[in-house]
Amino acid sequence: MSRKTLIAGNWKMNGLLTDGTALAKDVAAAVRKMEKPECEFLVCPPFTLLTTVKKALRGAKVALGAQDCHFAEKGAHTGDISPQMLKDAGCSYVILGHSERRTDHGETSELVCKKAGAAHDAGLKTIICVGETLSEREAGKALDVCTRQIIDSVPENATSADTVIAYEPVWAIGTGKVPTTGDVAEVHAAIRKTLAKKLGKGNAGKMRILYGGSVKPNNAKELLSLEDVDGALIGGASLKAEDFIAIAKNAGVC
Ligand code: 13P
Repeated sequence: MSRKTLIAGNWKMNGLLTDGTALAKDVAAAVRKMEKPECEFLVCPPFTLLTTVKKALRGAKVALGAQDCHFAEKGAHTGDISPQMLKDAGCSYVILGHSERRTDHGETSELVCKKAGAAHDAGLKTIICVGETLSEREAGKALDVCTRQIIDSVPENATSADTVIAYEPVWAIGTGKVPTTGDVAEVHAAIRKTLAKKLGKGNAGKMRILYGGSVKPNNAKELLSLEDVDGALIGGASLKAEDFIAIAKNAGVC
């Protein structure tokens, strides 16, 4: 089953006008130079930079995404951003249920599911994140936790065309620690099995499952060559265009 590798950068709460624009321009320039990348590139800057980054990416095959959205189209939700607003700003993707949102803002899988449904209705693709904490892994519960999060966070009518999953072990995010390739392979396979039960084998077989958590140029190859790993969701290393592009190059997808 062929699934186009997705190399996605989650800039998190980083980037002011000057450095954010420069980063986007550098990524765009590097991607423009590529003959025929076999992968899809995506950057997800903070809300404040969306329109500027969109302009900086002009003419380059790099998609634009946001890092969260509300489930409502508009209304009295101070500080929130709707899927329609993201679409209007030029986004084609939105990351949902990142562990930092689950922790910092108490987001539940049920809320993530509601947001994902609204994002799909607005024509956005979602990257739905799941992952266990260190204590859950040490207690042998990683598979159970990720499976539960998939069941509860992914809408019933999600398809491989509108949904991407990201497995991000919480303890691997920003720490330089990476699970063994055996552990990554095990969780990705379990996620695909769960997706098959929930959405049917056809959708599950075509749905991309990214790995995220301390992906760097030097570990990209071994992680991205695993059977069920269809790309990477990159935090820290996506803030340097050189490293972001090197991850795709070292993985052999561009
Ligand atoms: P790091 O690549 O900095 O570990 O972050 C991963 C992540 O959370 C991407 O969403």
